[in-house]
Amino acid sequence: MPIISIAIQKGGSGKTTTTINLAAALQRSGKKVLLIDADPQANLSQSLGIEDEPEHNLYTELKKEMLGEESDISKAILEIRPGFSVIPASIELAGAEIELVGVYSREHILSALIEPIVADYDFIFIDCPHAIGMLTINALVASDYVLMPLQGEFLPLKGVHSFMRHYEIVRKKLNKKLSLLGFVLIKYDERKLMNTRVKDSLEKVFENKVFKSVIRTNIQLAKAQEAGTDIFLFDKYSNGATDYRNLAEEFLNRLELQDTFKENVQELEAVVS
Ligand SMILES: Nc1ncnc2c1ncn2[C@@H]1O[C@H](COP(=O)(O)OP(=O)(O)OP(=O)(O)O)[C@@H](O)[C@H]1O
Ligand SMILES: [Mg+2]
Repeated sequence: MPIISIAIQKGGSGKTTTTINLAAALQRSGKKVLLIDADPQANLSQSLGIEDEPEHNLYTELKKEMLGEESDISKAILEIRPGFSVIPASIELAGAEIELVGVYSREHILSALIEPIVADYDFIFIDCPHAIGMLTINALVASDYVLMPLQGEFLPLKGVHSFMRHYEIVRKKLNKKLSLLGFVLIKYDERKLMNTRVKDSLEKVFENKVFKSVIRTNIQLAKAQEAGTDIFLFDKYSNGATDYRNLAEEFLNRLELQDTFKENVQELEAVVS
């Protein structure tokens, strides 16, 4: 039941688009997924057709958890269709950034809040805000993996660089089980020199952490978001649908590989100790 934060310190990097469509591809392959909208912009919620802020949402339950009151995150879960559910955001989440600062065990509030429901899903995805604040830190503390979508340009690469510093601190001080699942290039065009250069540089530094599957620029992805649905319901024959389907396949393979890797490490430790 891995929890995956979709995060990078750069706006408009495809975090929300990747959260929705990777999760939708996994659900279509029979997995049970939950999406958590941890961004006060509530783009994920809106992109799934949730226009009004529901009475129970991530903020209302986080607030209770912060105050030490009885919280029930299951009340905030909306089932979009079987196997595909979301915990919506609200604009008040922006206030949570500040409210969380003064709370006891402030980095662990989200993790404590969702703990009772984690076992109900095959995958939980957290769509993070682009800023590194208390919400992103809470998401990273609650997660097993972080997945970073980015455009193949120079500035997003800087976003990766500054995000990695925070990632390392969280890993060292707050959540030792967190690991980097990888980078996904979005709006990718192999004819663009800058795109291939950025991919090459990432591969040089992070080696096999760069997903082979790339997401090409595809207007249908933006249109699906506008229509309040995922790419498979909107246009399953589009390049966007093909690319996210491939990404989901590689995502599953990678998780399996990481599991074997962990086991091997344990085996190795057993031998040398
Ligand atoms: N592969 C793609 N092709 C075309 N448009 C895309 C693609 N991926 C994302 N978009 C569009 O780019 C915009 C930014 O994407 P998205 O909202 O997913 O980024 P984000 O990282 O979540 O942004 P924010 O930091 O504001 O939360 C959206 O309008 C989205 O529809
Ligand atoms: Mg977003």
